Amino acid sequence: MPLVNAKEMLTKAKAGHYAVGQFNINNLEWTKAILLTAQELNSPVILGVSEGAGKYMCGYKTVVGMVNGMLEELKITVPVALHLDHGSYEGAKACIAAGFSSIMFDGSHYPIEENVEKTKELVATCEELGLSIEAEVGSIGGEEDGVIGAGECADPAECKMIADLGVTMLAAGIGNIHGKYPENWAGLSFETLDAIQQLTGEMPLVLHGGTGIPADMIKKAISLGVSKINVNTECQLAFAAATREYIEAGKDLQGKGFDPRKLLAPGFQAIKDTVKEKMELFGSVDKA
Ligand code: 13P
Repeated sequence: MPLVNAKEMLTKAKAGHYAVGQFNINNLEWTKAILLTAQELNSPVILGVSEGAGKYMCGYKTVVGMVNGMLEELKITVPVALHLDHGSYEGAKACIAAGFSSIMFDGSHYPIEENVEKTKELVATCEELGLSIEAEVGSIGGEEDGVIGAGECADPAECKMIADLGVTMLAAGIGNIHGKYPENWAGLSFETLDAIQQLTGEMPLVLHGGTGIPADMIKKAISLGVSKINVNTECQLAFAAATREYIEAGKDLQGKGFDPRKLLAPGFQAIKDTVKEKMELFGSVDKA
């Protein structure tokens, strides 16, 4: 099945009280692991690509070519969206031109008027081309691609303003951060989430920083309207730990253990296991 935009899968998720996972990709192994797991679990999935990862993978056209090739060669039949994560205005335009099926325009660092203006323009383009679009209000804390945010709670009224522009999904800061959560993290602000959901109604809400959020908080967030959850760091940690174990056990020095297809296999499996665990927690299994 060719790429789809994320609208239908997220509308169904919101109505069915579960969430679709966005898993960020970094290379072929990542992409293959996520796609195969989604297919095995009969789950819809969103592949996230940050601008930095896009550059690393030799540009957006390379990413589109790789993903489209895999969908065909691996005979993937579950719905898959290819989504720009935290896109700039220019990045969003480049991904639209390259063949992404979904984009995020992160205008959260602009004054709200400018965020509205730029989001509006991109909404019109996406509507015309049949793409889905995610907007963000209130910066998500932590570090991603060198951008460091302090993590804040979005203003529900501003969320309503952006939601009304016709975006497909809305990311709102509710105390969540990218990367590992610090020991003294105060947790998600369900009060803010509830207020946003009351004002934005049917709009699927997006929870960034899915790594390390305890299962009960994930479930509560879904019950309050979160329909898409982004996970990146957790796959990276799982991949790194499995690769470290392989090397530390000296397996790369045994026989043909240095062959990249063998060396990267434990990390590949670790990504599959992480994605499976998340899809089960988010409730998207058998929802394709
Ligand atoms: P984590 O890296 O914390 O899982 O966050 C991912 C994310 O929100 C991507 O936009």
